[in-house]
Amino acid sequence: MPFLLEVAQPDDAPRITQIHMDAFGSNAIIRAIHTAADKDLKDLRNAVEDKLLADMRDARITVLVVRDVKADKAGKVEVSAVNGNNDADARNIVGFAKWIHPYYPQDNYSPPLWSTPKSADWKVLRPWLDEVIKVEEAIIGQTPRYELTYLAVDTAYARKGIGTTLVQWALDRCDAEAFPAYVESTVEAVAFYEKLGFEIAGRISMDIKEVNGDEDAGFYEEVGCIYSPKNRTEVEVPEGMSGAK
Ligand SMILES: CC(C)(COP(=O)(O)OP(=O)(O)OC[C@H]1O[C@@H](n2cnc3c(N)ncnc32)[C@H](O)[C@@H]1OP(=O)(O)O)[C@@H](O)C(=O)NCCC(=O)NCCS
Repeated sequence: MPFLLEVAQPDDAPRITQIHMDAFGSNAIIRAIHTAADKDLKDLRNAVEDKLLADMRDARITVLVVRDVKADKAGKVEVSAVNGNNDADARNIVGFAKWIHPYYPQDNYSPPLWSTPKSADWKVLRPWLDEVIKVEEAIIGQTPRYELTYLAVDTAYARKGIGTTLVQWALDRCDAEAFPAYVESTVEAVAFYEKLGFEIAGRISMDIKEVNGDEDAGFYEEVGCIYSPKNRTEVEVPEGMSGAK
């Protein structure tokens, strides 16, 4: 089954949003923040799509997609249907990743803001964001890096190397340009990142029950992971210069 890695186009937004919601809609922290006033996550879905379109327009963000394609006899690649769905909007996307490129504090850059749905519960969202910022600051601070903000693969296409393709795109750049990569991973995906060479650098956790009083809610955790660039060419020290500053 051939797959094609491409930069996403605005027409791809509905399908990417669908994959995003399928992957993260049941996540415990997402449900704690959003479902009280937005049971079917409609407001969140709209916010996800708006943010995606803003990210696609941002020159420092690359949204990648993998498409399921087939080649005809002449070797021409054609896009085939996802799960039998011929909807032209779907355009056969089976996974996506959003990468923020490295930037320096003096660039005065910040990625596009989320338009947080009105239905979001700030009792949960505020302490969670505070925790994320605190741990991220401790792990990587202002260090320029490739940062993976979202990654998801259609479950029908799991374990075919699609997630790897979407991450390796940036890791190759990390190695070539000598930047690290950073991701806040769900606990379930840590093994995937470790296989790609990331290392666990910190944990972001919150007792949801403690902040919203929901007796059924538990402890939620994500894991900050760092990839250090490899194969950096050592600068050769000319003879007689060793130890020179
Ligand atoms: C995590 C995710 C992106 C992996 O995508 P994928 O295309 O299935 O991953 P790959 O096929 O490239 O996997 C490469 C390797 O990672 C590891 N891996 C992948 N999924 C794994 C899982 N669920 N459990 C344990 N190891 C896993 C395996 O070692 C795998 O190699 P193998 O299949 O030869 O054993 C996908 O499961 C997903 O979208 N999950 C839901 C959303 C999510 O968790 N996103 C990332 C959180 S930030």
